[in-house]
Amino acid sequence: MRHPSIFGLALLFSFSVTSSSSFPQTPFSSKRYSLLLLQSSSISSPKATPSDLLSLLGPTPHSKTVNPVVARQLKSCLKFMVPFSPTLDAEPPRHRKLGRAELTGPNRRYDNDMIWWPPEPVLELARLAVDSGGDPAAIHRLLDPTIIPVPDVEGSNEEKCQLTRTPYGRRFISEELNMYMQFLFELIVDRGPSVGFDVALNRFDLFHGHLFLSFDTGRLGILFHAREYPAYDKRVFPYNMGFCQRGSNVTYDDSMNLRNILWLAPLPDKSSKSWVAPGVLVVLDARPDGIIYRDLIPDYVQIARTIYEDDLGEVAVDVNILNVGCQSQNYQLFIC
Ligand SMILES: *[C@@H]1O[C@H](CO)[C@@H](O)[C@H](O)[C@H]1NC(C)=O
Repeated sequence: MRHPSIFGLALLFSFSVTSSSSFPQTPFSSKRYSLLLLQSSSISSPKATPSDLLSLLGPTPHSKTVNPVVARQLKSCLKFMVPFSPTLDAEPPRHRKLGRAELTGPNRRYDNDMIWWPPEPVLELARLAVDSGGDPAAIHRLLDPTIIPVPDVEGSNEEKCQLTRTPYGRRFISEELNMYMQFLFELIVDRGPSVGFDVALNRFDLFHGHLFLSFDTGRLGILFHAREYPAYDKRVFPYNMGFCQRGSNVTYDDSMNLRNILWLAPLPDKSSKSWVAPGVLVVLDARPDGIIYRDLIPDYVQIARTIYEDDLGEVAVDVNILNVGCQSQNYQLFIC
């Protein structure tokens, strides 16, 4: 689903032809394609951009820069899994140290705090995003070079399905960072029902997110994609998505609207050691009558409701949590 459908390409082609020589004949690019559509569609109502979305989820001085009409419409499509508190003036608590029990134990406390002000290694990651000028290589340097082959995931091998970008993954050197990644997935599952979204950690539904650095806003985040492989259905979802879709038990329905989940790390101040906004965990509702669907989802993936990570920033790595257990569940992290 990463490339324009045949229909998308045909439409683009007709645009290219009718606009004759005004565009150079470069390879089809989805960016250009959506630009053309933007130009050709209504110019009366202001369009939301990914940067508007990130600004709106930032400190008040940033959210004020967003066109008020766009801001209002965007807000109506935000379903917070952790209360949004942009005016929270508390600084991150110093030296919060977390063990596995606090992050992934059965009786986790302070879950909201853990999003607003994550543990030190996560704050360092966010700071690095700004200090490096949004350079993905800065993130790559935090990875342990050990390569871990991705084993079978819930019968994926039998279907010749490779879920990850590469057949191997890595982990962060910081064990606390690894635990935090796992914590995010688990919190999404825990909080899903509070926004009307039942999501499960498995190879058809939620198993990955894309870690990105937004140069414009200085924000580091992860765009999670749940409901990754809905089952083929002649009537409601007649799309063949390849090997990984086979055997899917994800039903295509209105819950697809909620498949894009955004985590943002706290936002560091560019010129001091302080922080200007706490972290965020929010579902981006892509219901068809909303502005996210209209402006942030490329036309050729409207059916899948996919917001593209590349539109939010420079993607550094994919974060995968995969159930590699045979008899019982065993979730492991693979950074690819
Ligand atoms: C759906 O499939 C996944 C992967 O095989 C499995 O882990 C999960 O339990 C299934 N869910 C249901 C509700 O059957």
